[in-house]
Amino acid sequence: MRKTIIAGNWKMNKTVEETKSMLIELKKLMTGKESVEVVIGAPFTSLESAVKAVEGSRISIAAQNMYPKSSGAYTGEISPEMLKDLGVEYVILGHSERREYFKESNEFINEKVKCALSYGLTPILCIGEKLEDRENGRTLEVNEKQVREGLANLTNEEAVKVIVAYEPVWAIGTGKTATPEMAQETHKEIREVLKAMFGDTSEEITIQYGGSMNAKNAKELLAMNDIDGGLVGGASLEAGSFIEIIKAGL
Ligand code: 13P
Repeated sequence: MRKTIIAGNWKMNKTVEETKSMLIELKKLMTGKESVEVVIGAPFTSLESAVKAVEGSRISIAAQNMYPKSSGAYTGEISPEMLKDLGVEYVILGHSERREYFKESNEFINEKVKCALSYGLTPILCIGEKLEDRENGRTLEVNEKQVREGLANLTNEEAVKVIVAYEPVWAIGTGKTATPEMAQETHKEIREVLKAMFGDTSEEITIQYGGSMNAKNAKELLAMNDIDGGLVGGASLEAGSFIEIIKAGL
């Protein structure tokens, strides 16, 4: 059985105080009966207080990036060891914003995925095509390359620990969601790529959808066979809207 994981990606939002108050509110709204796993991707500066705020709840904390070395002369970077030290359990890697603004390559992202796994962090590998790729019929080609190169040289035992987040770039922050059928089709294709790489292990790998997921469209998307959760941006910034997406995954 694949795990359904609803994760929020707060991106560059929320101070420490805002982090604490949102997580306290979210905890109050959760009943404890949620069958999905809940993850919050907080900014680096809020990670320590986020981990403390979710103690005793079923919420886990993710970082939004990391550098693939344990320590050293890498000014401004954060290591997996530092994340583990804080009690962080997941790390979002290869988000399209990092690919676009910070020119992260598949090769570099692959290094991060392997490094995260070696520290016992669960990587959430983001992939997804741009609008021009979809319009030119290159959706599968682009996603296949990102999956194959992002997960290169992983064993099946490692692959099963990875979460893949399919986030069509044209749907991020635009209010344009892929229809459930469109998303399902791509998720299925991604799972076929995973099958070619890791055989039956592919059936165990959680593939989240991301891109303008909200309280209104979550249920239909999450009902699809190969959609095993969501990576939510804007709608994860308020407890009231995020809890509705969590409930949609029940
Ligand atoms: P939005 O939900 O704001 O479209 O963002 C999606 C995303 O990029 C999550 O990583």
